[in-house]
Amino acid sequence: MSTKKTSARAAAPADSVSAAKPERAEKDTVSWRVKDGIAWVSFNRPEKRNAMSPRLNRRMMEVLDELEHRSDVGVLVLKGEGDAWTAGMDLKEYFRETEARGLGATRTAQRESYGWWRRLRWYQKTTIAMVNGWCFGGGFGPLYACDLAICSDDAKFGLSEINWGILPGGGATKVITELLSMRDAMYYALTGEMMDGQTAARLRLVNESVPADRLEARVTELAKTLIEKNWTTLKAAKDAVRRVREMTYDNAEDYLVRAQEAANYFDDTGRKEGIKQFIDDKTFKPGLGAYDKSKAKV
Ligand code: COA
Repeated sequence: MSTKKTSARAAAPADSVSAAKPERAEKDTVSWRVKDGIAWVSFNRPEKRNAMSPRLNRRMMEVLDELEHRSDVGVLVLKGEGDAWTAGMDLKEYFRETEARGLGATRTAQRESYGWWRRLRWYQKTTIAMVNGWCFGGGFGPLYACDLAICSDDAKFGLSEINWGILPGGGATKVITELLSMRDAMYYALTGEMMDGQTAARLRLVNESVPADRLEARVTELAKTLIEKNWTTLKAAKDAVRRVREMTYDNAEDYLVRAQEAANYFDDTGRKEGIKQFIDDKTFKPGLGAYDKSKAKV
């Protein structure tokens, strides 16, 4: 990730602006592939540091739709092409150009971006943010929406909104107050200071930070661990973690009973198979890993 280009760009002659390349097609703003149970989905505007434009937001929702219920997808990883994860909302296309078109356009653009982040928060499959570079402002929305987050040590996170004159909106303030201490949330919201990957891990904005050359391997390893589990249970568990945070203890107790019983409706054999393999077959120990799903009669 380079910081040199910023000063180079500032010094560029004014007529270089007229030579700007045409915007990539909407369908190309997100790329994806599925391999070994993992859907690798990428923000794909590296030339704009993967800033989230209305086009990208619409395309991301379509891609999420397409992948959500595929039987060959157990885990979705959200990554960025090039040296950014995402530079946040596109200041030109998301803010300036939509605002110029009035309230309707602004609300539509908000609905499109918030819409796919919400979709991701409650996604059917488990999700991992693989943060490989810049993550600014609006990027905190999808970061939080992913169930788990692993970044590279050289990733850079920042609530840059304050630097250009707005509060950290689009959920970003909510994200930092959910994940960070009040002092840290306040510090980063007010200073706009960046934090590196290791700081983000220490403050619990992400689960882990690893050297850049180990990032994909670590995410793959984590995804494989998840894929081995019962997918119906994973969905129930991830929703439960998000839901019970806002509940009283008694309400959470009740919710968890009902959530498990609802999960049993879609998969009533998994947990029975798990008990059988431990108690009767003695082929695995739940404390040490997942039961063998291939033996369950669904
Ligand atoms: N919105 C719109 N365009 C953006 C963008 C954003 N958030 N982030 C980067 N870009 C564009 C730049 O305008 C530039 O376009 P150009 O080539 O047509 O001039 C291109 O992406 C490359 O950006 P550049 O600034 O030259 O890259 P860099 O590697 O030197 O710096 C950043 C990377 C992320 C530090 C810098 O682009 C930046 O500060 N972006 C804005 C981050 C931000 O405040 N996001 C919060 C929005 S809520």
